[in-house]
Amino acid sequence: MNRLDALKRHTTVVADTGDVEAIREFAPQDATTNPSLILKAAEQERYRDLVDRSLAAARGRAGGERERTEVFLDELFVAFGREILRIVPGRVSTEVDARLSFDTEGTVAKARRLIELYERDGVDRERVLIKIASTWEGIRAAALLEQHRIHCNLTLLFGFAQAVACAEAGVTLVSPFVGRIYDYWRAARGVDDIPLDDDPGVASVARIWSYYKTFGYRTEVMGASFRKAGQVVRLAGCDLLTISPQLLTELAGSDGDVPRALTPDAAAALRLERISLDEKGFRWLHNSDEMAVAKLAEGIRLFDRDARKLERFARERVAG
Ligand code: G3P
Repeated sequence: MNRLDALKRHTTVVADTGDVEAIREFAPQDATTNPSLILKAAEQERYRDLVDRSLAAARGRAGGERERTEVFLDELFVAFGREILRIVPGRVSTEVDARLSFDTEGTVAKARRLIELYERDGVDRERVLIKIASTWEGIRAAALLEQHRIHCNLTLLFGFAQAVACAEAGVTLVSPFVGRIYDYWRAARGVDDIPLDDDPGVASVARIWSYYKTFGYRTEVMGASFRKAGQVVRLAGCDLLTISPQLLTELAGSDGDVPRALTPDAAAALRLERISLDEKGFRWLHNSDEMAVAKLAEGIRLFDRDARKLERFARERVAG
């Protein structure tokens, strides 16, 4: 059996891409997108039709170039999401603009708008996850949205404070990152690689998963951002794992057993203590984790950089 099929016995496999063809190839349950992935896909000739249709919707709108650009981007995200949902049986994650990372109200409004567009096109909101950065403001927005059955995927999650606050807010799913934590510690330690047994990214996801299971939180854990197939395999048993096409190819191309790594027994052995965080407690605990502070801030800047590129792409189309 190839390692991708072996992994699917323990974990729901999700494709981390906006490339509809790649999704078709690996038969994942769900798919996740972000502005960087949508930009990469939108630039390809084969998705021109989706770009053109989003453009037509934007051009039909009253308002100036700024409003039309925003309409174009919302339509484009939903157009890709809709295409993906034709292929995957499960859900698609659609991200809100990184500029809203510290704006609870703005995030709620954008999420509602995206869901409105999906529902206009006959997509049930149960099949959509709104992807939001795991800042305090983002987590508060998610808590409000979940009350209206708008399900959220809290991303850019690096630290334990973020994980605890998300669970307490009742969010549907969190995406703790592995690879970017590994990148941080590789650079900090000045080494080329960190062995899997000592990998702080893998350990972070295992701890979050164990904490949620130990204390009965229903928030699903989806490990994300991988640098090597070994990191994926070490998290077999996690609720979901979202994996790039490159690593999906590698896993599908090699045979081998993938034993379950995350188990209730291993979780119990960690002897975790339950904590509760209000805003002050969250900010204090998050701030005490230098890696999480740096990586969350950088992650927002990087998603914003690609969102602005996407906006330039949109503005050129709208103006043209
Ligand atoms: O789903 C998260 C992922 O897209 C981020 O991955 O490789 O940019 O750290 P990466």
